[in-house]
Amino acid sequence: MVALYTAGTMRWTLCIGSFAFKFARSDRGRAANQREYIEWDRATPIRREMLCPIIWAAPYGLFNVMRRAVPLTPEDQQKRLDSGDFPDWDYMPGGPKEPFEYKESDWGYLNGRLVSLDYAGWDRDE
Ligand SMILES: Nc1ncnc2c1ncn2[C@@H]1O[C@H](COP(=O)(O)OP(=O)(O)OP(=O)(O)O)[C@@H](O)[C@H]1O
Ligand SMILES: [Mg+2]
Repeated sequence: MVALYTAGTMRWTLCIGSFAFKFARSDRGRAANQREYIEWDRATPIRREMLCPIIWAAPYGLFNVMRRAVPLTPEDQQKRLDSGDFPDWDYMPGGPKEPFEYKESDWGYLNGRLVSLDYAGWDRDE
C-alpha cells in the first residue's frame, strides 16, 4: 500500500490507499479541520462538486478523513489560471464566501473532476 506524507502549514496529510488523513499540527490546524467540515456539511450539491469530500471528521478537529485526490501539476494550474478555468463558487449570490485559494497544492483530481483539497480558508467570525 502506497503512503504519501505532505506537510501543510496547519496540517499534515497522510495518504494511504484511497484515503487522505489530515492531522492538525496545532490549534489552528484543529480549527481548520473544523471549518473544512462545516463547509462540506453545509455545501449545496453544486458546491460539493468543487470540494474533495470529507468522509469522516474526528472530534475536536483532530483529523479529517478525505477521499484521496491526484495532485494538480504547476503547468495545469498555470493553464487554468490563464484561461480562468477553475470552478466558480459564486454561481449564486449570498452564502459563504469562496473558502479556497488558487495555489496548485490545494487542488486535485477525483475521477477526472477538479476539486479543492483545502477549503478551510474562510473566517468563522465573518
Ligand atoms: N484529499 C487529498 N488528497 C491528496 N492530497 C491531499 C488531500 N488533502 C490535502 N492533500 C495534500 O496535503 C497538503 C496539505 O493539506 P492542506 O493544504 O489542506 O493543509 P494546510 O495546512 O491547510 O495547508 P496550507 O499549507 O495551504 O496552509 C495539500 O497541499 C495537498 O498537497
Ligand atoms: Mg493548503
